[in-house]
Amino acid sequence: MTQGAIDAREFRTALSCFATGVTVVTARAANGEDCGMTASSFNSVSMDPPLVLWSVTKSANSADVFRHAERYAIHVLGSDQQDLSNRFATRGIDKFDGTDYQRDEHGVPVLNQHAVRFDCKQWAVYEGGDHWIVVGEVCRIDRRNKESLVFCEGAYATTNPIRTTNSRDQDTTETGSPVDRLLLYNLARAYRQMSQQFHAGVRDSGLSIPQWRILASLYGKVSRNMQDLQDRTFLDGESLSDSIAGLQQEGLCQLNDNGSTVSGTDQGHERVRHLFEHGQQQEQAAVGENSLNDLIDQLAEVVKNTQSE
Ligand SMILES: Cc1cc2nc3c(=O)[nH]c(=O)nc-3n(C[C@H](O)[C@H](O)[C@H](O)COP(=O)(O)O)c2cc1C
Repeated sequence: MTQGAIDAREFRTALSCFATGVTVVTARAANGEDCGMTASSFNSVSMDPPLVLWSVTKSANSADVFRHAERYAIHVLGSDQQDLSNRFATRGIDKFDGTDYQRDEHGVPVLNQHAVRFDCKQWAVYEGGDHWIVVGEVCRIDRRNKESLVFCEGAYATTNPIRTTNSRDQDTTETGSPVDRLLLYNLARAYRQMSQQFHAGVRDSGLSIPQWRILASLYGKVSRNMQDLQDRTFLDGESLSDSIAGLQQEGLCQLNDNGSTVSGTDQGHERVRHLFEHGQQQEQAAVGENSLNDLIDQLAEVVKNTQSE
């Protein structure tokens, strides 16, 4: 438990346990430039009048634009828009270059792809420590039939509904539903059911899921660069750096080659050894010892065949 002065990294890690959606907020600067940034701090405020809020760090290049903008658009991203989220979270690039968008009647750049778009008129801006809290009155809603993107524990996820007891009962009696023969459906269900059990064991061992993913990727005494680790752990850059710093402090991993690669220490390998054993036992029990290697080979082939460049 954290008491007294709150450690910034611990605070960020704790906050990251609160799952959110992901938005891209866009506005037009006074000089006519298009501005946009990824924000997960979006939330509802009031029904009447219809108000929403989000917060922008004062250190963002676009902070002043959003603070003074009369109008802006908040786009709730779809589950296929991770790349767009990363693009609008990258500083110092032309975020709109190659992005599919147009300007609305107020000149606000609006993205053509999203799950929901809220067109807002500035209602109030409050100071909130190192952020501006921006409250907008919603003037128009454009909702598409798209599954939303989720962000939790520093990684993107999708909205997989949790089944109620009733739907579980129904499921066991249901036979021959076409969805049962979809690979994606079975992968999602198998992943959720198996990871619930396995992740409980990870947390019991005192590691967060991001820390486990990093140490697991370094297990076997390999050294990996940041991009490789990001691909394997599904973490965004900031969460990856935070988790690595925490692991380093505990002596579980180390930076090499001027900080460009990371490797696990003996202590780090030791810390996850039993989780590997536990995971393998769980997988063998779920799949059957003989079929497990075949299934893993087939899934590795799927990963290879569907990897983007
Ligand atoms: C998933 C995600 C959510 C984010 N949420 C926020 C947020 O709510 N507020 C914020 O100020 N920055 C947030 N950021 C970081 C900004 O998007 C990023 O720093 C952005 O580049 C700042 O805008 P700038 O390019 O104008 O400096 C988030 C980043 C990611 C990846």
